[in-house]
Amino acid sequence: MEKLVIRGGRPLSGTVSISGAKNAAVAILPAALMAHGPSVIENLPDIEDVHLLADIFTRMGAHVEFEGESMRVDPNGMVNPRADFSQVSRLRASYYLLGAMLGRFGHAEVALPGGCDIGLRPIDLHIKGMEALGAVTRKEGGILYASAPNGLRGADIYLDFASVGATINIMLAAAQAEGLTEISNAAKEPHVVDVANFLNCLGASVKGAGTDVIRIRGSKHLSGRSYAIIPDQIEAGTYMIAAAAAGGDVVIRNVIPTHLEAVTAKLMEMGFQVTEGDNGSEFFMRVVSDGKRPRSVNIKTLPYPGFPTDLQQPIMSLLARGRGTSEVVENIFEDRYKQVPNLCRMGADISVNGRVATVKGTEELSGCPVAATDLRAGAALVIAGLMARGTTTIDHVEYIDRGYAHIEAKLRSLGADIERLP
Ligand code: EPZ
Repeated sequence: MEKLVIRGGRPLSGTVSISGAKNAAVAILPAALMAHGPSVIENLPDIEDVHLLADIFTRMGAHVEFEGESMRVDPNGMVNPRADFSQVSRLRASYYLLGAMLGRFGHAEVALPGGCDIGLRPIDLHIKGMEALGAVTRKEGGILYASAPNGLRGADIYLDFASVGATINIMLAAAQAEGLTEISNAAKEPHVVDVANFLNCLGASVKGAGTDVIRIRGSKHLSGRSYAIIPDQIEAGTYMIAAAAAGGDVVIRNVIPTHLEAVTAKLMEMGFQVTEGDNGSEFFMRVVSDGKRPRSVNIKTLPYPGFPTDLQQPIMSLLARGRGTSEVVENIFEDRYKQVPNLCRMGADISVNGRVATVKGTEELSGCPVAATDLRAGAALVIAGLMARGTTTIDHVEYIDRGYAHIEAKLRSLGADIERLP
């Protein structure tokens, strides 16, 4: 088990390049299994979740090969559309195999993902969508069995909550269903749009992604294509927050600024200088910070385009040194404050009451041994370590590696004193 060691108090400067979006990759790769022929998915992030999916695909009989940041996925030869518990317990997003396999094979078996470190995370809306498309489902021994022997038929589906996972999973199944499907109250995250664009490349007809209503006309003849996924707006937001926290002048390149409007607005409200630009071929964000205590602001997480829940934990580290008191409301997940005890060990003054965290800014944080409990809590601890006086060691780096490619190399290239120890 590896750990990160960070000696804080150093400003960051230079340029960091953002990798492909994790939450697009873990949906588009399963979608590639729906095509009757190989696809090449480009701009994949070099993260554990992508490697896990490659392993699952290979065990299902698909042919997978990496070519740099691209993966060639040939689904021909795939036999058993099942993702067993050992796989799903390692990667929640394996549940996208439900929508992908149900449409291709007419049946699928996916282990029910247990809850995780940020909440119960049921998949009732996913199941409701599959049943609306004509599937029969049953749960037995922790496995969800779904079958649609006569194929899937388009339907009108209303999502009680604008769930990202349910929206995407239903899109995958509907792309192979007979007729028209309409998803109302759909999620609008950038990766939902990215999956829709990929499905259109394969030959489905998906309209309205990025709005509340998505219409999908399915096709039984989806053919493999090459596709480059979007940059990861959560990784980009994390580095913007890190630059604000450590102080300095950082350019974050290979981003889509409109995907970052909520975090840009919050950082500017806190007093940081955030600008966007393009050098002709790609967009970049620039964050300039004097590293002093920021203005305390309130945060409410909301579905896109609201403030993203995935950046609630990283930005809380920055708020821990605010010049006042911040109120954070986590509206998406019921238990997403596991970073708080470790931040308090470092000197933060944060109290949690249900979905509300009250962050009283303190003069400074001091480094000490802490441990990551989930992916974004780990990112929050890295940011706290960059700000803290002294040395911070972060255990369970494997949580961080799930969603951030080469985090210590990227931060070291910006001047951070950070290393990974076995
Ligand atoms: C996706 O999770 C992301 N994961 C999460 O990122 C992200 O935090 C979340 O969307 C919100 O943006 C991937 O894309 C792989 P939801 P997902 O369905 O799909 C409830 C990260 O750090 N819900 O929008 O699970 C659910 O419990 C990860 O990169 C139901 O009740 O999010 C939660 O409270 C963490 N029933 C809320 O909706 C359902 O059937 C939002 O969940 C589905 C969800």
